[in-house]
Amino acid sequence: MTNINLELVAADAAAAAQRQDIVIIVDVLRASSTIVTALARSTQAIMPLRSVDEARRMKRANPEYVLAGERRGLRPRGFELGNSPLEYTRDRVGNKRILLTTSSGTQALAAAKEAPITLVGSFLNLTAVSHKVKQLLKEEERGITIVLSGKLGEFSLEDFLCGGALVSRLSEEKDRCSDPAYAAYLSYQTSERGLLSTILKGNHAKELVDIGLSEDIRFCCMLDKFHIVPILKSGWVVLDETV
Ligand code: MLT
Repeated sequence: MTNINLELVAADAAAAAQRQDIVIIVDVLRASSTIVTALARSTQAIMPLRSVDEARRMKRANPEYVLAGERRGLRPRGFELGNSPLEYTRDRVGNKRILLTTSSGTQALAAAKEAPITLVGSFLNLTAVSHKVKQLLKEEERGITIVLSGKLGEFSLEDFLCGGALVSRLSEEKDRCSDPAYAAYLSYQTSERGLLSTILKGNHAKELVDIGLSEDIRFCCMLDKFHIVPILKSGWVVLDETV
C-alpha cells in the first residue's frame, strides 16, 4: 500500500520532504511546463532559484548560463528568457544551463530540496512521470506527495487538476489517498474532457490571458507531449536518463 498525499501550496513541499516522500512538483502555469519543455529541447540543466537577485548574482559569476524567469508573469529586466515554454526552442536553450526563478514553481522546488527524490510533473509529461514513480516504488516503499506550486502562496485550479490527473494514474485499489489527493482526482474526472476550458476559468489563466499569453495556456494543457522526466540532483533539475 502506498500513501498518496497532495499539498496545496509551494511552501508545503518542505513537509513532504520531511516525510521522505517521493515528491512531484507541479506548476502547470507555467514553471513545471517550462522545465519539461526546456529539457525536451536539450537543455543540459536548470537551477531553480528563489529570488531575482540571487539569479542575477549567479549569472554574474557564470555568464555562460542563461538567465530566465518571471515576476508577475513577465521577464524581469535584463533576463534573457521569460517563463513561457514557447520561448524554450532548441536553438535558444539546447546544450545550455539555465538559471530559472519564478514566483511559485521554483519556490516549491527549493522547498523540496531535502526530499529523497524530487520530480517535475505537468500535463506535458503526465504518463512519463507516473511510470517513473511506479518504477521507483518497485525499488523501495515510500509515500508519494504531489506538491501544487499554486500562485504566490495561494491555491491554483490548474495545478489541482494536474494533481488529480497524477493521482488517477498512480493510485491502485489498495493505496491510501489523502482527502486533498482524492478531491483532486474527483475534480480531474469531471473536467477531463473540457480541460482547457475549465483551466481558462481559473484566476491564473485569466491573468495570463490579460497579458497576452493565451497560447502558453493552450500549450501547457497538452497531454503527454513529451516522454521525459525532470529530476532534481544536487541543486540542478536534469533529465532522468532511466526513462
Ligand atoms: C510561477 O512559478 O508562479 C509561475 O510559473 C508563474 C507564471 O509564469 O505564470
